[in-house]
Amino acid sequence: MSLRPSVVTLPRKDIMMNRSASISTALLLAAVTLYAQTSATLNVEVNQTKSAVSPTLYGLMTEEINYSYDGGLYAELIRNRTFRSDWSGILNWFLVENGSAAAKIGVDSKEGPSPALTNSAKLEVTRADANSPAGFLNEGYWGIAVRPNTRYVGSFFAKTASDDALPVTIALVADHSGQVLAKTSIPVGGTAWRRYTFEMQSGNAAASSDNHFEMTLDRPATLWLQLVSLFPPTYHSRTNGNRIDIMEKLAAMKPAFLRFPGGNYLEGNRIETRFDWKKMIGPLVDRPTHPTTWNYHSSDGMGLLEFLQWCEDLRMEPVLGIYAGYSLGGELVKPGPDLDPYVQEGLEEIEYVTGGADTKWGAVRAKSGHAEPFKLRYVEIGNEDNFDRQRTYDGRYAQFYKAIKAKYPNIQIIATIPVKGVTPDIVDDHYYKREQGMFEEARHYDKTDRNGPKIFVGEWATREGSPTPNFGAALGDAAFMTGMERNSDVVIMSAYAPLFVNVNPGGMQWTSDLIGYDALNSYGSPSYYAQVMFSSCLGDHTVNSSLSGAGDKFFYSVTSAPDKLCVKLVNASSAPQAVNIALNGAGTGTHTAHLQTMKANTTWATNTIAQPESIVPARSTTSIKGERMRHTMPAYTIQVMQIELERSVGSIKKGTIPADLP
Ligand code: AHR
Repeated sequence: MSLRPSVVTLPRKDIMMNRSASISTALLLAAVTLYAQTSATLNVEVNQTKSAVSPTLYGLMTEEINYSYDGGLYAELIRNRTFRSDWSGILNWFLVENGSAAAKIGVDSKEGPSPALTNSAKLEVTRADANSPAGFLNEGYWGIAVRPNTRYVGSFFAKTASDDALPVTIALVADHSGQVLAKTSIPVGGTAWRRYTFEMQSGNAAASSDNHFEMTLDRPATLWLQLVSLFPPTYHSRTNGNRIDIMEKLAAMKPAFLRFPGGNYLEGNRIETRFDWKKMIGPLVDRPTHPTTWNYHSSDGMGLLEFLQWCEDLRMEPVLGIYAGYSLGGELVKPGPDLDPYVQEGLEEIEYVTGGADTKWGAVRAKSGHAEPFKLRYVEIGNEDNFDRQRTYDGRYAQFYKAIKAKYPNIQIIATIPVKGVTPDIVDDHYYKREQGMFEEARHYDKTDRNGPKIFVGEWATREGSPTPNFGAALGDAAFMTGMERNSDVVIMSAYAPLFVNVNPGGMQWTSDLIGYDALNSYGSPSYYAQVMFSSCLGDHTVNSSLSGAGDKFFYSVTSAPDKLCVKLVNASSAPQAVNIALNGAGTGTHTAHLQTMKANTTWATNTIAQPESIVPARSTTSIKGERMRHTMPAYTIQVMQIELERSVGSIKKGTIPADLP
């Protein structure tokens, strides 16, 4: 049905006879026709709950893609802190020779501080003095953010050629002016590897990311360095922690869980480059780092414990992806005895997460400072194993399932695709579609078999807009979310993917990512705000409701909680939609509706790093008298109404509303 106002044509004779009368008649007719054609009715049976809404419906999915951790959430400022190199030299590090100084840098493949980091950077300064220092600089992840009056904490491993104290000057320097923004000096000495720590404080200079990090010497000397690290203040002041601005954005989404570590990142291109969790725990110097599936190297600073702490910080449950014997390049471990070591590795991983300090792997976690076990209700076996051409996932899943259930009967085991043989607890569905495709998928679960496994929509996104989704994508997302909410008795969890993108050139491997950032700033896409809006009023039950007379680009869901009604409306059409909302059973009181409204003029309108808040939800409050509300949804609008019902006791039907209602 078209939502555009229809044109009213009057006979020519009428126009000539009484022009003003005919104009008013035309306007009246047009108004009547417009109202008659466009008014929809949303009937809500306020006191009739239908099915449960899963409290874990909205969560996060994450992996190392688009510089999600390195150069993203993980707050490390030094890029390539472990000195990988190629034909051009040490990546991201460059020689500094001021004035008459002379020096060279290279990789010493025989000198390293640990079995995991067996090489180092060797800095040989042959000529330098206080006015002509020499050393090297790090460019950071597309710059280094320096904010005024901020404390930076760093560390490095070093050794020198002698026992004499060698002062190493460390500084944050503005790229264009050369201004030193923060500075300190550390005496280094001794021929054995040692870890050094330092702090420096910035002054009043304005926040910027056009800066770099320098380490210099004021005399001839040889210095070996490894694991050079620098952190700004982090969320919850965690050591080795996360960026505050991005964590705050995630917190606003109220996510119930975190699915990690992927995604393709879990699988790796080869078995050797999978998410090998044992190489990503403990001190950073014991982590060898590894190449990812997304064409860049991971520092592995975001290891298993850091993921769990991220969960702890945002009160999310972990949904732990366990490597299942298939890697993206096609390497495969067949079910049976060959797979046993990987099943064992998965069991040990679960023990690392959940075991007491008296268990082998719980003790390893406790040694890293987290004696308290984490709660773990969900694990997922593999990722998108439909790509396994030999079709071995049924057998691999069954082998993991039996072993995990035997030891951890309460853990829900998610299958990454539908499986035969064992009935999985939960199946993971993925959707990556254009806007129209997501409108269609908004009804996907309406007919799902309620006796089958529960559904985890572990990855979904409307892919329109780059690097981050535009408003059309947000409309597709919001439409899809109404469908998940309506069917949340079966769709118990969902997570958008990918979550993050570094918007600098070369930072993105996958388009349409929820949250964008550079070294200094971050922003939420319209899709991000749609999720913030939806999760702000989840409700615990769906409510009997029906919609009639709306266009096919209009979507809704209604849920309730003891004290409120959550009405979500999505008008993805270019024309406004009038909606008469009937709150049947709400009673005669005056109800307060808190509205969050996000709209745009076109589907291509969007937010960017330069204009981060072009499209954001606006808040307003209105009151609804009694049971009827005449409402208009503007074109291209997403709206969440939280209605606080003023109930007269008599209007509440016994048994249909949770008993704790006042
Ligand atoms: O989200 C990007 C990728 O899409 C994930 O790594 C993978 O699981 C899916 O194919």
